[in-house]
Amino acid sequence: MSTRTPLTRFLIEAERAGQINAELRLLIEVVARACKGISYAISKGALGGVLGDAGASNVQGEAQKKLDVLSNEILLEANAWGGHLAGIASEEMDEPHPIPDVYPKGNFLLLFDPLDGSSNIDVNVSVGTIFSVLRCPDGVTEPKTAHFLQPGTAQVAAGYTVYGPSTVLVLTVGHGTHVFTLDRETGSFILTQRGVRIPEDTQEYAINASNARHWDAPVKRYVDDLVAGRTGPRGKDFNTRWIASMVADVHRIMSRGGIFLYPVDAKCRDKGGRLRLMYEANPMAFLVEQAGGAASTGHQRMLEVQPAGLHQRVPVVLGSKNEVAVFERYMREG
Ligand code: AHG
Ligand code: MN
Ligand code: MN
Repeated sequence: MSTRTPLTRFLIEAERAGQINAELRLLIEVVARACKGISYAISKGALGGVLGDAGASNVQGEAQKKLDVLSNEILLEANAWGGHLAGIASEEMDEPHPIPDVYPKGNFLLLFDPLDGSSNIDVNVSVGTIFSVLRCPDGVTEPKTAHFLQPGTAQVAAGYTVYGPSTVLVLTVGHGTHVFTLDRETGSFILTQRGVRIPEDTQEYAINASNARHWDAPVKRYVDDLVAGRTGPRGKDFNTRWIASMVADVHRIMSRGGIFLYPVDAKCRDKGGRLRLMYEANPMAFLVEQAGGAASTGHQRMLEVQPAGLHQRVPVVLGSKNEVAVFERYMREG
């Protein structure tokens, strides 16, 4: 008898344990199924005609890749008719997407970054999908932007997939963070790591160093001290890893620890940061905290930020708990 635990079984057991209800179980299954579709589309590469620009821009003025648009469509289509959602919001759509009237509506709100790491799509480097699930406020059947603007602490589930050498799904429903690997022969996500624990200390950091000249003084001082290594104030050597797909950088941190930083700098100050709070920073913060790590803006716990806009950007620092605390100390000292 197989001892493998497919996602379906994991979710049924979570439901029996009272961690999720049947509607949330269905929602997660549907998102996972959509991610499988995205994974297969990406893996076809140039043969599938899916590479290259879509020839349009999203609400944030970023040029969309064909796969940004396709991934968004796959997630929208999969989630429209199941009856588990009240509304959907996406990086690729200005306003929340209503559930068509012909379908029943559910009690949850789904937010996603359909494809994270767009700059890596055409060069065969890992990309991913990030998602966050909130409850729709009671009595609301047609959720507007304001109904989505809940702090990260209100998330009931979050996850990401990485479409890499293997496709992995990393999930939390608030009871630890768990890793599933796609078995392409059976088409099932199989539990491959239960209860991820991020090491509290690290000697590995991820930051886009080409922004160094735009950094604020505490960020520059922090990175200078990492680079100084054993001969500097930190007294140990650090190594850099930067993939430029947040999902892949976060997944490395889930696997062996590290710190990921995308601080606000002179280049992105007017926007508030580079990464988006609702469908990038918050779901990652939930997953990282559930794995024993920390996630912050540099000044405040990420999950406690009160959102002001669907596409709001924030400074992000997350990963090994003690290293995030060191960065926050540099920020306090100015
Ligand atoms: P997206 O592809 O969804 O727009 O997000 C890309 C993000 C993130 O994955 C990555 O960490 C960051 O952008 C890299 O941006 P820069 O190359 O501008 O530093
Ligand atoms: Mn992204
Ligand atoms: Mn994206």
